[in-house]
Amino acid sequence: MSARWLDDELADADTRPAPKGKTKTKRPLGRRKLATLTTADEGGTDEIILRLLDLGHITEVVAELKSGKEATAYVARGPRGSVLVKLYRELEARSFKNDAIYREGQVVLDARANRAMGGRSRKGLGMLQSGWVNAEYAHLWTLWKAGLSVPEPLVGPAPFDYAATTPAVLMRLIGTEDEIAPRLSDASLSPDEAWSAWEQSLDGLAGMLRLGYVHGDYSTYNLLWWENTVTIIDFPQLTTKQNPHFQDLLRRDVQSLVTSFRRHGIQADPDTVLRDVQRRVTGPAPAPRVLLP
Ligand SMILES: Nc1ncnc2c1ncn2[C@@H]1O[C@H](COP(=O)(O)OP(=O)(O)OP(=O)(O)O)[C@@H](O)[C@H]1O
Ligand SMILES: [Mg+2]
Repeated sequence: MSARWLDDELADADTRPAPKGKTKTKRPLGRRKLATLTTADEGGTDEIILRLLDLGHITEVVAELKSGKEATAYVARGPRGSVLVKLYRELEARSFKNDAIYREGQVVLDARANRAMGGRSRKGLGMLQSGWVNAEYAHLWTLWKAGLSVPEPLVGPAPFDYAATTPAVLMRLIGTEDEIAPRLSDASLSPDEAWSAWEQSLDGLAGMLRLGYVHGDYSTYNLLWWENTVTIIDFPQLTTKQNPHFQDLLRRDVQSLVTSFRRHGIQADPDTVLRDVQRRVTGPAPAPRVLLP
């Protein structure tokens, strides 16, 4: 496969240049109140929010934070504190950008399901969507349990439990309700902070690689910055070593990280960084997290 082909396939990896200047601390956009989200609208956002309330995963929606490419992020409250609800879009609107490349190497036991997902029937889209949501939970749990710096998933770890929140993923909010952690792409960093963020980002990449994963969209657009700590987010497209494009995706992630860190004054050569990351894989791993019963 040529590099150009992969570049085309992955053209939407998030590497837009960010404006320089002060850190844009995230403030919830309009304070969309619970009342507006819980008016009856079958199958829509409101029904999903109501289900999350019914299941007791949240007690209140505080605000709509951000409408992204594939999902809308809401700030909510739950029994264990502030929650980030990542609500995936309606089937038709969601792009399922290049999902085939990330799914390659995954084993789908049901041939009919595989055909349905290949053709874009409504049923196929539904399966793809819940597949991506469940994948995001499963990846979050794996990375969280392994001690990596990712938001704590708030439903699960049993797939039976988290499948009930589809098409939403619930995780701990990084930051506070009034001051939500900015993405590294929006943060204004001193040279020391930039260096620390860079080091932590390389450790994060190595941490995933040690587990046999590549993120698939790794750049400052999917890294949060809070209290001098980098937190990795946005995992539906994470792929495993079984994927024949694994090495290309890894190289692509390194390139995106290098490019997106330039505005923080970090100049690095992607080939050198790749070797550095591979060396880190053999170094000490983070301490695994023990789940409380
Ligand atoms: N746990 C979290 N705590 C705080 N903010 C978060 C958290 N998870 C996600 N966000 C915010 O929500 C935004 C969207 O999340 P995410 O990147 O997972 O979704 P996306 O659909 O890929 O959106 P985008 O197109 O912006 O990348 C992030 O850019 C970040 O600002
Ligand atoms: Mg993202």
